[in-house]
Amino acid sequence: MTALDITDASPTLAGALAPGASKGGERQRRKRSQRSQPFPGLTDRMFEEPIVSGRTLFGSYMLVSDPAGVRRVLVENAANYPKTAMDLRFFTALFGGGLLGTDGEVWRRHRRVMAPAFDPRSVAAYGPAIAASAREFLSRWDALPDGAAIDMAEEMKVLTLQVIARTVFSTDSAEIIDLIGGTLSRGLDAAAQANILDLLPVVGEWRMRARERRLAASSAGLDHAIAAMVRAREANLAAAPADLLTRLVAAKDEEAKPGGSGGGLTPKEIRDEIVTIFMAGHETTAGTLSWTWYVLSQRPREAARLRAELDAVLAGRPPTAEDLPNLPYTRRVVEEAMRLFPAAPGLSTRRAREADEVCGHPVRKGAAVTIMPWVIHRHRRLWDDPERFDPDRFGPERAAGRPRFAYLPFGAGPRVCIGQVLAMNESILILAALAQRYSPRLAPGAQVVPQAKVTLQFKTGLKMTLERRRP
Ligand code: HEM
Repeated sequence: MTALDITDASPTLAGALAPGASKGGERQRRKRSQRSQPFPGLTDRMFEEPIVSGRTLFGSYMLVSDPAGVRRVLVENAANYPKTAMDLRFFTALFGGGLLGTDGEVWRRHRRVMAPAFDPRSVAAYGPAIAASAREFLSRWDALPDGAAIDMAEEMKVLTLQVIARTVFSTDSAEIIDLIGGTLSRGLDAAAQANILDLLPVVGEWRMRARERRLAASSAGLDHAIAAMVRAREANLAAAPADLLTRLVAAKDEEAKPGGSGGGLTPKEIRDEIVTIFMAGHETTAGTLSWTWYVLSQRPREAARLRAELDAVLAGRPPTAEDLPNLPYTRRVVEEAMRLFPAAPGLSTRRAREADEVCGHPVRKGAAVTIMPWVIHRHRRLWDDPERFDPDRFGPERAAGRPRFAYLPFGAGPRVCIGQVLAMNESILILAALAQRYSPRLAPGAQVVPQAKVTLQFKTGLKMTLERRRP
């Protein structure tokens, strides 16, 4: 996820904004399709050319959308393309030294220690917590009158916050959820205030320090609560619940040197990882679900097919993690919604350590390299009729010939999303649980405008009416 609203601050797209972006003025801007909405700096060329590069006041930039180029930057030569110091610093200010804000040996050790808590077996153990949250959430909707007006984007945030509190801490305590919610929204407000000033040498440093101080003060309540939970788990690990926090407290680094200092995570490191997981996992999954509801409300045929699958497989009972392999169409609906509306529309900008070549294009040492799922997922050369919602693209036959890196909602390479299996399971289970009972419709006259902050958001919410399904 890019740390900044890249239309404001990224050297790459700041550059893209300059030449030609204002030509043709208002008329051309109005004609621009939905695909450029969240990033006004994107030009049509970027959705047609595999690689677009140039120079700006801030240096060279390259927008890479060729799957072979993505592989080169994120996988084959990933060591040459670390995240920019600016992006890392920004995430450190938000969450301390968690996975999103660290690099090099520290990042490698944390990633190694945390990986087992996110492997498919551990994720399967979180299934009941997800299912329980979905069930409780349904009783909240059941208490509303039929046809009630809701903001779906807010509803999904409430639900995914409960899910993450349960999977991480095994808690549904309102006090903890409020502490987390408050810390997250202050963090996201700080992210939203990022702009081009952050790139200036002295002013940028000053702004960053001030932001770090504000955020550290604002998360003190949550920090105390996490520290108390870590102490309680350490005191009696054998009796601790099998949640993510216990896994992190118990984790050992298998590669730690014998006789070294344990090789696990310290309480401060655990705190930073927990806050990172909340930040990285809550808005993204809420956004994915909300965009899925939006596209389904616009496509009655696909919505009917989804419900037919749910009725056939579940016959009205609540879904569990065991149902996941039997819900292929539900999975495709989520995958296709993530193609059109990736929750992380731009990956963190990478900076070339040394000169390189990407698909025959020279990359200068120090160049900013940007990879945008938003652009790649709507790219003319990679997808037929890219603006169309068509879940069958993800069926086995049609997916077979597609390059691996034409689709990257979770990024790729060593820094791929650690929570991707959890996020997919959670999204499918929640959609299945709610869609079998409800058919949310877009409220009359509602405007849906995508807005890229750290994640892809709805500029003015997602106003829907909640219709119950008739038996
Ligand atoms: C649909 C939901 C999600 C989406 C679309 C998503 C997307 C992403 C993407 C694109 C990245 C890579 C960013 C880059 O390369 O610049 C990332 C990293 C990360 N994600 Fe997710 N994510 C989701 C859910 C989650 C969940 C549920 C968790 C944890 C519970 C999580 C934890 C993380 C962490 C810790 C990283 C940093 C990994 C590292 O740098 O080693 N994400 N995510």
